[in-house]
Order: sequence, then C-alpha cells, then structure tokens
Amino acid sequence: MWHGGAGWVVRMPDIRRIGVLTGGGDAPGLNAVIRAVVRSSVTLGWECVGIEDSFDGLVRPNHHRVLINEDTRGILRLGGTILGTSNGGHATGMSEAEFTTRCCDRARELELDALVVIGGDGTLSFAEGLFRRGIPVVGVPKTIDNDIVGTTNCFGFDTAVAFATEAIDRLHTTAQAHHRIMVLEVMGRHAGWIALYAGMAGGADVILIPEIPFDLDLVTEPLRAREAKSARFSIVVVAEGARPRGGSTSVLAPATAGKLERLGGIGHVVAQELGRLTGKETRDVLLGHLQRGGTPTSFDRTLATRFGGKAVDLVRCGQFGRMVAFHPPHVESIPLDAMVGKTKTIPLDFDLIRTARAIGVSLGDAHGSLATPC
Ligand code: F6P
Repeated sequence: MWHGGAGWVVRMPDIRRIGVLTGGGDAPGLNAVIRAVVRSSVTLGWECVGIEDSFDGLVRPNHHRVLINEDTRGILRLGGTILGTSNGGHATGMSEAEFTTRCCDRARELELDALVVIGGDGTLSFAEGLFRRGIPVVGVPKTIDNDIVGTTNCFGFDTAVAFATEAIDRLHTTAQAHHRIMVLEVMGRHAGWIALYAGMAGGADVILIPEIPFDLDLVTEPLRAREAKSARFSIVVVAEGARPRGGSTSVLAPATAGKLERLGGIGHVVAQELGRLTGKETRDVLLGHLQRGGTPTSFDRTLATRFGGKAVDLVRCGQFGRMVAFHPPHVESIPLDAMVGKTKTIPLDFDLIRTARAIGVSLGDAHGSLATPC
C-alpha cells in the first residue's frame, strides 16, 4: 500500500507467484519477453512459473516449471520460445467453454497471482475472456504480421521485414541477370504491413497488399514501361492475403475448429498471370516460415524486453485486463478488450502508401490524384 501525491491510498496487489505463457505462431522476440518477465519478477522477489505450449500446458499436469534467471541465460538472441507454443485452438478435445473453465480452475490451483500472456489476437482474445472470469491477466502483443490494434508495433515484425528485405535484395541480382520478373510472396494474413515495408525497403516495382485489391492488367503497364527504359527485370512483392479485384483470397487449407484458414499461393498465381500478360520469363518465391525463424533484430529484442518489463510493472500495480502497447517513444498499456475481434490493416492514406505511389511503385490499382491537402 502506498500514499500517492494527491493523498490517495492505492492498494497494491499481494503478488508472490506469477505465470507466463506464449501462444499462437512464434515470432522473433518471444524469448526476450520471457527473459524480461522472469528477471523483473525475480528482482521483485516473486516466483515466475513458465507454462508450456500455451494454454494447453495450463490445463495439463506437469506442463509448467519455475523459471529462474539462469533459465533465461543466452535466450535474448534466440528465435522461437523456450516455453513452446501452439497455433490454432487447444489440443485437449474439450469444448471451448470447458477449456475456459479448466484454465481458470488451474490458474487458481497453481496459485498464480497473475498470468502474463504473450500472444497474437487469438491468444489475447482468449486471455481477455479469462480476465472476465476473474483471472488477473496482462497481455503482451506479438506477431510478425503487425496487425494487432492499439500498438504501433509488435515485436517480430521488424525481424520479418528485415528478412524479407534481404530476400528482395537477393532476388534483384538474379532477376537482373536473367531479365526476369521475380515475384516474392510474404506473410501477413489480412494485413499488408510486411509486404509494404519490405517492398519499399527492397525497392520493389510492384507491391500487392490485401488492403488494395489488384488488377493485373494495370500491373503490366509499369512493367512494360520498365522494359521500354531498358530495365529488363522487375520485382513484385505480394502479401499472402492480397486478392484480385472482384476475386477471393488464396487459401491453402480451410479453417477448422479453433484454427484459422491457411493463406498462401497468390504469389504463384500472380507470377503465372504476369508471365502470360507480359510474355516475360517469371519466377515466384514463397518466403513462408523463414520469416518467423531466426534471431530477432536489435529493435525487436529491445521492444520485447520493454514489453516484458512493462507487463511486470502492470502486474505490480494491479493493472489487470490490459495489454502493453508501443506508442512511440513510450510503452504504455490499453484495455485488452480494445483489441478483441479487430485487425489493424494499413490505412489507405498511410504515408508510406502515398510515398509508394509518389515514387512510381505500382500497388496494382488505378489511383487518382496523388496530392493531399496541405
Ligand atoms: O500470424 C503469423 C503467421 O505467420 C501469418 O503471417 C501466417 O499466415 C500464419 O501465421 C501461418 O500460420 P502457421 O504457422 O499455422 O502455418
């Protein structure tokens, strides 16, 4: 208990033991969050329990372990997660309602005074449901897709963009040598953040994103114009969720109970069509899970560490039902329910979209005036 400056008496929660888990697809930086959570907790004299394989490990016996500082030694630069994760529903065979109840019961049985949940929209939405059932939850947003509402960045995004940019650099040299069109498909689900950032950083000629349905006839115009100017190769970056105007998203596998549909394949379709329309040799590359693996960039390590520290701070101050959020230059927090059921896509008036158009990058549409009011 402490006395605030204005004379308020604020009751601090009595914390002795907290849990931490990682859920959803992995993202570079998860281990950096775990490390910051464990070390900050230990500094405060708390015990930190690591729960394995997302919420599955909470309901299963012997799928948790006390983490000490030594367990987090050397993991700052490691991709993946030392706790394991699971993407797409739980593997217990229970109904959603049973599973939720079981998670609440187990959090109490394990005497967790708080639970730090590191995950994407699905994991954090589930965590918000636990909070509504009385579990003291704090959320940490993660995804390479950068599509979580309420935070400017998620850790993992910068690493994915850096890797995709390097791939574009590599494709440039071979595209130029063979006078080819090279098409690179990147991840991102229904948001084009990875495609736009990597495409712009890599100097792509065409960037196709889910936010702007494309017309391949329009895409061929800038490609032909390049040819006429003796630039006999082109680089096209396609987000996995991009779709043709009036067409649908390319799905590799349909959604099943608790698991989202798997997107992918649009890069191949675009490459085939562009080859047909331009008569040029065209190849496509699917970057896939390479974007999620490997060592996090320094930006992601730092952001993840800040997120972990802030999450422990929220627990210390009894600020439950909240998600840490990056509002540059600060790490703050927002209510968890502000992100549930929402996806942060790229606003069409985003400056990088306007700049892409201004410097002649095709986004696959016929855009009008570039000028914005001064
Ligand atoms: O949400 C992260 C992400 O990598 C998406 O970009 C991609 O569509 C999806 O996960 C792939 O999921 P999985 O690992 O289940 O194939």
